[in-house]
Amino acid sequence: MIDFSLSAELQEIQARARKFAQEEIRPIAAEYDRKGEVPPGIVEKAKAAGLLNVTIPKEYGGMGYGALESAIIAEELGAACAGISITILVNGLALTPIQLFGTEEQKDRFLRPVAEGAKLAAFCLTERQAGSDAGAIKTTALPDGDDYVINGQKCFITSGGLAEIMTVFALTDPERGARGVSAIIVPARTPGIRVTKVEDKMGQRASNTVELTFENVRVPQANLLGKPGRGFAIALQTLDFGRSGVAALSVGVARAALEYALAYAKERQQFGAPIINNQGIAFLLADMAMKIEAARLLTWQAAWMADQGLKVTEKSAMAKCFASDTAMEVTTHAVQILGGYGYMRDYPVEKLMRDAKLLQIYEGTNQIQRMVIARELAKASPS
Ligand code: CAA
Repeated sequence: MIDFSLSAELQEIQARARKFAQEEIRPIAAEYDRKGEVPPGIVEKAKAAGLLNVTIPKEYGGMGYGALESAIIAEELGAACAGISITILVNGLALTPIQLFGTEEQKDRFLRPVAEGAKLAAFCLTERQAGSDAGAIKTTALPDGDDYVINGQKCFITSGGLAEIMTVFALTDPERGARGVSAIIVPARTPGIRVTKVEDKMGQRASNTVELTFENVRVPQANLLGKPGRGFAIALQTLDFGRSGVAALSVGVARAALEYALAYAKERQQFGAPIINNQGIAFLLADMAMKIEAARLLTWQAAWMADQGLKVTEKSAMAKCFASDTAMEVTTHAVQILGGYGYMRDYPVEKLMRDAKLLQIYEGTNQIQRMVIARELAKASPS
């Protein structure tokens, strides 16, 4: 049976997230976009509102929600500011490898203090020469006695300059390439870790995106997640979950753009009538609304499948790709509908358009999503 209505619990979560987003995020979004900083205290406030680390089990300091609850929250936060929201949401991505592959001891030592203390975590995969080709990373974590010694550089790391712990993907067996990658928990204060560049981004500016350099960073081998050499698969499995979150964030950004554009089109008078009376504008709005609905349904389907324990590689790639392409298209139309005003910083839609662009890039470019979808299609069809 298919039921598209939200349960009472989901409605409560949606209302709580919407209230937080509208009261705590939207009023400061433009200011922190200009400053290019994470608003101080926002992560703690999200934690107090029950909106941080939502998929981490309660016994480890999270909310114990599923992917669907998480998607509903991400849409609401995204409708207020994608930049501020990604800091809140990416924590889940960084902690997921510990939740899925950590031992009880690792969860006690790393997951619980970070989640309970509203601390930040960073997911350290990307390198300068290993973006889409994530298996081509060069950072090494070579065994030395009971430790790993990490050397290399990671780039475009969200919250990298603010995190308490990092999940770092590095070669423990460089001869084996992607099959020599391991996932390792690294406390951010370990000597040898430096922020070597803070990125000045076009959009989602209220998040911290940095380059990190690891120089003889020594961590116990006990910090290894799962088995040695399984790090790349751990990263990809984690991204399968993360991508429906980016999809939901995209739906939120697109929804906000439609709301602004619709209100403007109903009010703005040209040639003696509201501009929505022109089909050229009305059809743009109709397309925007249609694609947002479709993006939301695909996102909720991917999240629901994750909650059922089904394989979500294909559906989460579809949701991420479709929803972020929708966000880009819808925000671009919103700027067009507002015309000259839309292009000015006095109005919020230019920011939404800048923010949307990154949604098509991070957690795997949309070209990579299409590649993942095509591979899954090829696997499923009879040869
Ligand atoms: N789940 C689990 N395992 C998987 C998997 C999945 N979804 N997909 C592949 N694997 C396994 C394969 O079975 C294979 O295992 P074996 O070695 O045992 O055979 C291994 O992983 C390698 O798989 P492939 O041969 O398919 O790998 P590939 O190199 O051909 O392609 C890719 C992989 C899909 C292109 C991948 O590199 C990718 O997703 N690239 C994009 C990277 C990305 O998304 N980066 C995001 C950075 S994080 C971020 O942006 C967060 C932020 O800051 C906001």
